[in-house]
Amino acid sequence: MARVTASVYVSHVPAIGVAQDQGKTQEPYWQPLFSGFERSKAWIKEHRPDVVFLVYNDHANAFSLDIIPTFAIGTAAEFPPADEGWGPRPVPKVIGHPELAAHIAQSVIQDDFDLTIVNKMAVDHGLTVPLSLMCGVVDPAHGAWPFRVIPFAVNVVQYPVPSGRRCFELGKAIRRAISSYDEPLDVQVWGTGGMSHQLQGPRAGLINSEWDARFLDRLIAEPAALAGMPHIEYVREAGSEGIELVMWLIARGAMADVAGGPPPTVVRRFYHVPASNTAVGHLILENAT
Ligand code: DHB
Ligand code: FE
Repeated sequence: MARVTASVYVSHVPAIGVAQDQGKTQEPYWQPLFSGFERSKAWIKEHRPDVVFLVYNDHANAFSLDIIPTFAIGTAAEFPPADEGWGPRPVPKVIGHPELAAHIAQSVIQDDFDLTIVNKMAVDHGLTVPLSLMCGVVDPAHGAWPFRVIPFAVNVVQYPVPSGRRCFELGKAIRRAISSYDEPLDVQVWGTGGMSHQLQGPRAGLINSEWDARFLDRLIAEPAALAGMPHIEYVREAGSEGIELVMWLIARGAMADVAGGPPPTVVRRFYHVPASNTAVGHLILENAT
């Protein structure tokens, strides 16, 4: 059977991708951020999954205001990069896992969660920046991402967005789905986006490091209670784009302890401010073998 072995949490910012693509990772502004991911890059080389179920948000690149799916699962064989602003990044296309994705879609939909099935989709910085931070530079001419990726897009851009509780419950359903797939795959579930940031309005530039630290503490130790936090608190304390953090509850809900297993090991915890307008948070939680 397939197994969720770990969950990984990573913030995104388009400028991080550009800094890496333009060879600026050792510049004074970026060096502390990229060096914070060195140990994580070493960890994932040693714990290379077969598939990453990557929870992220699209920023009007794959979807527009024409159609706004709350939860969308990518079932395609591959996904090209796309982006607003700087344009598509020079990174490899993402190779999917259509069979596992179709199985998860069937299991989760029949477990009462409505997903949009997406057979053709481009993926933006919400997905490619976390991949780049965890895997480093991969030249699309000569290399590929080291694992397959099932993109799972969540609407956190246009109100109404899903509640933390629904995201957490969905994570549990995703774990049940993966655990019932009849092939011995090592699967990681990633939650991305956040931490505190606000990109527009009078509070643009807002960072709340104390609140971010408490969010990380609670995500590790009391995720079910954290899932009850209302949207208004994310927006008030972590800024309008801080709402991206509800996606981390999907990954946390897929961990073994939530289903009665032992607590995960905290392999990695890192926090850095600033990256563009955003606080960058990072965790790796490993399930016991
Ligand atoms: C930034 C952050 C985001 O989450 C995003 O989607 C775009 C830009 C930023 O901090 O620049
Ligand atoms: Fe974003």
